[in-house]
Amino acid sequence: MSTWKGMDNSLARKTIKNVLEVVNDSNLDCQKLSIALKQYHDLLKILTGINLENQENKTDIAFENGVAIGLTWAAMCVDDLVRTRMFIRGVYEAVEVALQNKKDDSPVSLLYAGSGPYATLVLPLFEAFSTQELQVTIIEINETSAEKVVEVFNKLGYETYLNEVLVENAVEIDLSVLPPIDVVVSETMQHALVKEQQVPIMLNMYKQLGEKVIYVPQNISLQLSLLKTAAQLRENEIKSADLKKVRSLYDLTFGVADKELFDSYEFDLKPLRELIKKGYSDLCVSTEIQTYNNNWIRFNESGLTIPKILEPINDSNIDKFTSVKYVLDENPHFELG
Ligand SMILES: C[S@@+](CC[C@H](N)C(=O)[O-])C[C@H]1O[C@@H](n2cnc3c(N)ncnc32)[C@H](O)[C@@H]1O
Repeated sequence: MSTWKGMDNSLARKTIKNVLEVVNDSNLDCQKLSIALKQYHDLLKILTGINLENQENKTDIAFENGVAIGLTWAAMCVDDLVRTRMFIRGVYEAVEVALQNKKDDSPVSLLYAGSGPYATLVLPLFEAFSTQELQVTIIEINETSAEKVVEVFNKLGYETYLNEVLVENAVEIDLSVLPPIDVVVSETMQHALVKEQQVPIMLNMYKQLGEKVIYVPQNISLQLSLLKTAAQLRENEIKSADLKKVRSLYDLTFGVADKELFDSYEFDLKPLRELIKKGYSDLCVSTEIQTYNNNWIRFNESGLTIPKILEPINDSNIDKFTSVKYVLDENPHFELG
């Protein structure tokens, strides 16, 4: 199976159906998940003919409030197993709920902001919902990704689910030009909301679509935490006991105001001297993501929830830091004050 021409469409659809079955299985079988997502990625690579090694595909697009990661990196997101499982489960459940909430028999209208070249998080749903139940609109700023995603829909015979692919910036787009939206999906983030544009994208969506829409992710919860010293962890896998929460920062969820997101959060490290003695000495931001309902990506389960170390602290510099805040600039990040 090295070219699309050589592949049977029913086999391709079987591969995608299997992804849905495996991610929707409430018992997590890591081996099954890994095989299903590897087959999924292999299929998508063949379909699109993408060369992941191509330098141009690895180039990020820079904006004033973060980057859109290059096509290669967007494609490779599928390999983050727990992320992909929890997001597809979340999107599936969000569409189910939106369908139940429908007052007429029009399809659920799903807006996918940042699909990458594969539309990874929605394809499996087409094996469960009909075109009368689900229609998708895509906003993707990377032109090649946008072209590839159209190819994917066409080659798999999913084109009747696709309303439109807009090569636009989801941070600025005026949504009034689109059909009414029921579900918004956007995974444009890294751990601790650094580098990419999840925050400005979600703010643009919240402002225009309000609370009647279902957002996936539903919540991104950030905490300031202390992590065991890197040297102590080097030999072992990081476990939840290796992390101690210092204080909550904010939840990126509908209802959050711009102000809260960019507030400076005070903290007092003095009571934490004992923990520092026990080897908890890296001040970090920890992340947990609720894609939808009970579908959470917990601490360290995915690349999106590994702790982001801000600063190693010790007895001599402990009094230097009293606050932390999120800075939205060309490289979004947390800053200690
Ligand atoms: C982290 S990748 C995720 C790809 C895919 N949705 C997935 O979950 O596997 C984010 C995608 O969003 C796109 N993107 C980032 N910022 C964007 C923006 N402001 N407007 C539109 N697309 C954007 C990137 O080009 C990239 O394809």
